[in-house]
Amino acid sequence: MFDTIAVVGAGHVGATTAQRLAERNLARAVVMIDVLEGIPQGKALDQWQTGPVEGFDSRVIGTNSYDEAAGADLFVVTAGIPRKPGMSRDDLVKTNAGIVGSVSEEIKRVAPNAFVVVVSNPLDIMCVVAKETTGFPRERVMGMAGVLDTARYRTFLAEAIGVSVEDIQAMVLGGHGDTMVPLISYTTVSGIPVTQLIDQETLDAIVKRTRGGGGEIVKHLKTGSAYYAPSAAAVQMVEAIVLDKKRLLPCAAWLEGEFGISGVYCGVPCLLGRGGIERIVEIELTDDERAALHRSAEAVRSTMTVAV
Ligand code: LAC
Repeated sequence: MFDTIAVVGAGHVGATTAQRLAERNLARAVVMIDVLEGIPQGKALDQWQTGPVEGFDSRVIGTNSYDEAAGADLFVVTAGIPRKPGMSRDDLVKTNAGIVGSVSEEIKRVAPNAFVVVVSNPLDIMCVVAKETTGFPRERVMGMAGVLDTARYRTFLAEAIGVSVEDIQAMVLGGHGDTMVPLISYTTVSGIPVTQLIDQETLDAIVKRTRGGGGEIVKHLKTGSAYYAPSAAAVQMVEAIVLDKKRLLPCAAWLEGEFGISGVYCGVPCLLGRGGIERIVEIELTDDERAALHRSAEAVRSTMTVAV
């Protein structure tokens, strides 16, 4: 268990993340920080009072001040404006770079040894902002995207094949956008290559739906974006770090030559434990997958030049 995990942003993603962290007893205290007065305080009090029913002792605290998170072990950053229908994640870049930049200044000030899990969009760019502003090493600044995109991919596959989601193993790499790269060559159903169980046309449709998975939800909600699956995915990464699980998960990581890519954040297979990103695992890719990963990284890089 960590002593303190802070969640920045008390909107849908932040609040759901705080609740999930508390329910899993991952920290003695879960501190939810937001600029809005009253919202983090009210939501945190409500969440804290679910403890006796849900069976957790984490103290959930809501605040407008980073000082309450002084010395926190880990920050989950969800602050920023969400997409509206028709907007791409990249449309948010300037506004959210400003927000995540000032959040990162505060993190550096109050908790210089913290891990940072970035959730704000456009994800890969916000990771760059967090890393450059905090100056933290790449092991401690990572982005949540691949776990979410992979969860969507696994959900759609499980339904199409008619098996439990638990039996679908897969990884979606690349940037968190339209260029993301579901790795079909590594997609299996309990070890059986997925291509033996599903026809190419269905698989192509699932890949397409996965790429547009966030937008599909924005279209329904109209005033915001997804939060149940994003918060679940962020908490899976946090849990891997807190419990030193050595999970191999697709995370946005700062690349320094891995997969032939440098100087950009991009979703790659990462070993997560108490050291944060303890290792980036350079798996073999087909020529097509490798080309798609490079295209995706370059798409991130071109948006990066606007923001940073
Ligand atoms: C999504 C947003 C959160 O993929 O990026 O749902």
